[in-house]
Amino acid sequence: MIIQGEEMVTPAVIAAMEGTPDPRLREIMASLVRHLHAFVRDIRPSDAEFERAIEFLNGIGKATHDKHNEGILFSDVLGISTLVGLLNNPSWGGETEAALLGPFWRAAAPECAPGDDIARSPTPGSTLFARGRVRDGQGRPIPGALVDVWQASPTGLYENQDPSQADMNLRGCFRTDDEGRWHFRSVKPAGYPIPTDGPVGALLHAQVRPHYRPAHIHFMVSAPGYQTLVTQVFLDDCPHLESDVTFSVVQSLIGDFVRHDDPAAAPGPVEGPWYSLDYDFTLRPGEQRIPTPPIR
Ligand code: BEZ
Ligand code: FE
Repeated sequence: MIIQGEEMVTPAVIAAMEGTPDPRLREIMASLVRHLHAFVRDIRPSDAEFERAIEFLNGIGKATHDKHNEGILFSDVLGISTLVGLLNNPSWGGETEAALLGPFWRAAAPECAPGDDIARSPTPGSTLFARGRVRDGQGRPIPGALVDVWQASPTGLYENQDPSQADMNLRGCFRTDDEGRWHFRSVKPAGYPIPTDGPVGALLHAQVRPHYRPAHIHFMVSAPGYQTLVTQVFLDDCPHLESDVTFSVVQSLIGDFVRHDDPAAAPGPVEGPWYSLDYDFTLRPGEQRIPTPPIR
């Protein structure tokens, strides 16, 4: 097709892709081109801005490697990861709401016995005892569900960001019992700044945006016949709750982290005040799909 003006470009590109055999790919690419072209018409980038945009995208690729995923970070700070999670996990039937996977989930966290401590190396901080149940939409327990947990330390670092922590520190997989119950011991996590040494950090800086995540524990709950739930439970006393750089905080995911001052009342040995969390997950029927790990 000979292009006779800017208005011909969009239909020409869509026509060129019309023979795509995969109907879903055809639909996605046609919509992407329509929206991207409308965006370009809206902002009318200068040549210098266009060069800068390409440089930014290339920078995301260059900053991504086995131990760091800048692409996920970009999607997270634009609210896209949260939007996809909420669209794919409607909670109309009381199912637990989703929250993004983030760039720090690692596959094959150690299998733990019920109640195990996921602090695998000395991890100073307040002891936390977390427990709950996994159920279906009718309130029936789901035995044998896998509850994969990962969290940052009380200094706000994941083990793979912090050489002072053991491999797989603050990560573990638990199986629910016949009543759908899980429980583990850990330490109370802190909020943390997201990595800002790449192009996403430069963007946040240019936008003068807060770059903190509120304190949270990640959960991935899966069982055959149920849609895998990827979510987070947020600490209710965290000052960053209202300004999460990834827009993940929904009311139902704010946990009730209760402080206890009596060490004798704790389910295990503790020194000083300790915390408890009770949180139940409700799964929806669907496909048990485990995500591709963003890092190794
Ligand atoms: C996380 O929750 O692990 C996370 C999410 C987005 C950016 C950085 C970390
Ligand atoms: Fe996190």
